[in-house]
Amino acid sequence: MREKIIAGNWKCYKTLEEARNLVLEIMNGLKPDLDRTVVLCPPFPYLQMARELTLKSKVKIGAQNLWKEDWGAYTGEVSAPMLNSLKVDFVIIGHSERREYFKEDGALLNAKLKRALAWNLRPIFCLGEKLHDREEGITFKIVERQIEEGFEGISSEEASKVVIAYEPVWAIGTGRNATPEQAQEVHEFIRGKIGKLFGTVVSQSFPILYGGSVKPENIDSLMAMPDIDGALVGGASLKGQDFLRIIHYQRE
Ligand code: PGA
Repeated sequence: MREKIIAGNWKCYKTLEEARNLVLEIMNGLKPDLDRTVVLCPPFPYLQMARELTLKSKVKIGAQNLWKEDWGAYTGEVSAPMLNSLKVDFVIIGHSERREYFKEDGALLNAKLKRALAWNLRPIFCLGEKLHDREEGITFKIVERQIEEGFEGISSEEASKVVIAYEPVWAIGTGRNATPEQAQEVHEFIRGKIGKLFGTVVSQSFPILYGGSVKPENIDSLMAMPDIDGALVGGASLKGQDFLRIIHYQRE
């Protein structure tokens, strides 16, 4: 069975105290012997706190971004070796909010992916179409290009450490999730593309998460799809009980 991953993207929310309470609430609510990977992605200033609280547990910690260079005069940036020294496990790369508001393009995201892999951070590489792409019927074309640009120069061995999060932009923060069937169709396409680039051994074990208005009410039906291996959760990951329900999704 492929690894199942539920990741919470806290975005730019929470004070330090609120963040600590949320980490503790989630840790205390986890069922023992969980057969899925749980990842918390708090803002940069809370990574060390979250890491220390979770170090002896199975909960993984992820950053929401990183810079494309290891060191240098880049005021305000955070690099892969810094995250590595904090014992961060995962890093989100190419979230649609980074692509849109910070103009991060394919070449930059490819450079970030390479730095993350070089420093043993597992990338959660985000991609997805905008509403007008879907309406024009070019969803697969957009997703294919995002994969080709993002994975340029990546070996099969490196690719096997990456996780993709398919997040249709029209579903993020809107309350309007993709239907399980809509998501499954794109996940299957992504798996096929990964297979063409890196071989079926990699593609068959490659986790593909869905993101975009994942909630306690829709997680079970999303996870029932054969190519959906988990979720990248925004809004609902900020509420401990909602996120715990999502983590403990039930197989239908
Ligand atoms: P959402 O965000 O769950 O609030 O739609 C998902 C994401 O941005 O990763």
